[in-house]
Amino acid sequence: FTEKRLAGQTVLMTAGPTFEPIDPVRGITNISSGKMGYALARACRDAGADVVLVSGPTALPPPVGVRTIPVTTALEMHEAVLAEVGRCSVFIGVAAVADYRVVNRAEHKIKKEGHEAPVIELVENPDILAFVANLPNAPFCVGFAAESQNLLEFADAKRRRKKVPLLVANLAQQAMGSDVNDVVLLDDAGTYPLPAADKREVAHAIVRHLAARLAARR
Ligand code: C5P
Repeated sequence: FTEKRLAGQTVLMTAGPTFEPIDPVRGITNISSGKMGYALARACRDAGADVVLVSGPTALPPPVGVRTIPVTTALEMHEAVLAEVGRCSVFIGVAAVADYRVVNRAEHKIKKEGHEAPVIELVENPDILAFVANLPNAPFCVGFAAESQNLLEFADAKRRRKKVPLLVANLAQQAMGSDVNDVVLLDDAGTYPLPAADKREVAHAIVRHLAARLAARR
């Protein structure tokens, strides 16, 4: 990756899942290895960008040369993004953020003996990507959409609803935990299927497309 296509850019990213505690030993989460987000963070770094990665819990080592901010919950991820977003020119939301968090989180482990099944009360989490994309001086925003069906239709609706100029869509069943990914890019000009490849190559292809879109705006 000799071409520094993102030189001068500060890229803020989210990756991995979020974990929403129910009690000290249980929680709600999404299935996400963090592999695609981490690969993209490394690809942005290799393209010359300053990269800040806000990451939910993953088993991956933090990428070298990338400032990584570890978080657990969606609210923590939102706060970390808020603190950093003013300095960034590009925001990429790869994280699989839990849509809901538990309101009646128990201070101590919920015990089974002699109790009714607990009722878990949920409240919606903020949509971090939509929030950033709708800021008055929003950075260039890239979203991800993992769908299990009607990929292009659902992804395009999501892109318009969240007002993100570039969206990366994939079928969730194929990508989860895997080292390979098969994605389609969607922007105002159309849809661009990328060849199925390992996540490193897919990340580099996304960076090339992103850099071209940024250059076209100038
Ligand atoms: O709506 P959905 O979760 O499928 O949208 C996916 C995109 O929105 C991803 O880029 C994801 O990181 C972002 N997102 C977010 N905050 C949420 C939910 C999704 O930033 N609460």
